[in-house]
Amino acid sequence: MSAVYASLSSSPVPVGQPESSASPFVIRPLAAALGAEVLDLNLDQPLSDEAFSRIRQAFSDHHVLVFRKQDITPAQHVQFSRRFGPLQIHVLRQFQLPGHEEILQISNIRENGKPIGLGDAGAFWHSDLSYKAVPSLGSLLHARELPDSGGDTHFANMHLAWETLPASLQKVLLPLKAEHSYIKRYEEQRAKAPWRPALTQAQLDEVRPVVHPVVTTHPDNGRKTLFVNEHFTSRIVGLPQDESEDLLQQLFAHSVRPEFIYTHQWQKDDMVFWDNRSVIHLAGGTPDDQRRRLNRTTVEGTAPV
Ligand code: SIN
Repeated sequence: MSAVYASLSSSPVPVGQPESSASPFVIRPLAAALGAEVLDLNLDQPLSDEAFSRIRQAFSDHHVLVFRKQDITPAQHVQFSRRFGPLQIHVLRQFQLPGHEEILQISNIRENGKPIGLGDAGAFWHSDLSYKAVPSLGSLLHARELPDSGGDTHFANMHLAWETLPASLQKVLLPLKAEHSYIKRYEEQRAKAPWRPALTQAQLDEVRPVVHPVVTTHPDNGRKTLFVNEHFTSRIVGLPQDESEDLLQQLFAHSVRPEFIYTHQWQKDDMVFWDNRSVIHLAGGTPDDQRRRLNRTTVEGTAPV
């Protein structure tokens, strides 16, 4: 692979070149916008504090980490995820992996006529659980069954989205807040995918709309990020509806410019860990006749500021 320098990333390491370290695993940047792969590390073994701190640093620098060849159990997936913080339980409990409430199944597979997982989880660009008062630090998605073609996941770097906005627009955005709502697109998705359950009152109570700053500061790397996404951000607080919609559409379009994106082509047993505070993502779609099944845990973050 040619050594294309990651000029847009905070990392000084050329894409495709390993970072040097005493720890016997390799972190190799994947793309200019974001992403690194972690090679020669088995997540079925306990991680030393030194290895864990290298991973934390790489996560802060690269925003998406791809751990290759992880043929691990759901319990090991949960255990590794818990190193980063408490895990969040998704509101659609019917799609939990049996025996593991912390794992949400992302799958288009049906068993006995019923979907085993959330088949259309990434249909719109989003940050997982941005609709919670305390959203997610990051998600860990483990590939269990993959289609022969398709099924990619796209990631966009929201630090770059913020940093490339005109200064005049940045000034307008800095004091603004936006509402995030789980139900913004729920009925639209249900109309296309009638297997999605109607939400009970208890579920609706669990996902009441919340308000977050439009521009947040990442608690680990100190960089500002644009914290809005087309799936869950429903309006800018205090603006008339049409102005709010115009501004949001402008931000949604800007944040997914091709130069901010890394597209992940899954390999069997990949474990991908992305930062929901600095990245939004989109599932590229899977052909109807192909099976896809991945397990997701979601780590709780802190209230955005
Ligand atoms: C998700 O949004 O968590 C799922 C992404 C994917 O299925 O590629």
